[in-house]
Amino acid sequence: MTFPLHRPRRLRRSEALRELVRETRLSTSGLIYPMFACPGNKVRTEVSSMPGIYQQSPDQIVEECREVADLGIPAVLLFGLPEHKDETGSEAWSPRGAVQLSIEAIRKAKLNLLVITDVCLCEYTSHGHCGVVKDGEVLNDPSLALLADAALSHVRAGADIVAPSDMMDGRVAAIRAKLDDNKFTDIAILAYAAKYCSAFYGPFREAAQSAPQFGDRRSYQMDPANAREALREVALDLEEGADIIIVKPALPYLDVIQRVRERFDVPVAAYNVSAEYSMVKAAALKGWIDEQRIVLEILTGIQRAGASIILTYHAKDVARWLKKC
Ligand code: PBG
Repeated sequence: MTFPLHRPRRLRRSEALRELVRETRLSTSGLIYPMFACPGNKVRTEVSSMPGIYQQSPDQIVEECREVADLGIPAVLLFGLPEHKDETGSEAWSPRGAVQLSIEAIRKAKLNLLVITDVCLCEYTSHGHCGVVKDGEVLNDPSLALLADAALSHVRAGADIVAPSDMMDGRVAAIRAKLDDNKFTDIAILAYAAKYCSAFYGPFREAAQSAPQFGDRRSYQMDPANAREALREVALDLEEGADIIIVKPALPYLDVIQRVRERFDVPVAAYNVSAEYSMVKAAALKGWIDEQRIVLEILTGIQRAGASIILTYHAKDVARWLKKC
């Protein structure tokens, strides 16, 4: 005996009722806004495949960060472009790098904003891979010290959290040890634990000028077909000292987000990556979709799957829309 006793529509009759019983409440307080820092002064270049997203010099980064903080977004994630690329990506740990200078400028402006930095080498290496390359191979162990140096330089400049995205084995442990040796025991690590080898990073590689110059990232990023392996990757990163973990990309991996959420008791973040953003933007610019409803539905879906933190290029728009709701 269900109908007519049970009528689920009773709770859908008005917005007040729907609001009362809503299971997932999207909030600006869980958003992280990714940004691209480049060398120079007064530089602000729009990324053609990511409308509304810019490569910016540190002085401009601070100005946008002011806006981000005013919107109530708690954190930014900084990526960096170097002046020159080389074999080892040595500008990644330069105290005069665009990321390091941006952090210092944000600190000086005393903004109410957490500064998270992406730790990787691909933007800085001439070959565009996330680690050291020898004879056409991406070497794991020799890359670890370089990644740790990059993380330390970000923290010295004033970063609150470091986020390794390289997918070398053992990098969380190497970074944790390096930070602890330098008395930064309280700086958290946001690990890209389950990072898939994805075509959804395409527009980002234009933004960060980080496309690999030969081959691809299949020998270090995860195979999109694997979900159980994601649980293993997360377990290993947590054992090595990760504080928060990321599943990336978000939309094609909602099952992975859900399984990670169920298995582990740490904050779970999801990265709504560049092509997820670009596809929505392109369709919205053509007038084919309702951008606001589509974005809120996508982010609600990511949160419903189990991510309490979402890294998204839509963060500023979402903060504005949620303020009006
Ligand atoms: C660097 C890195 C990438 C992204 C974040 N960190 C690109 C890649 O691995 O090729 C992608 C982010 C996005 O697409 O928005 N390793």
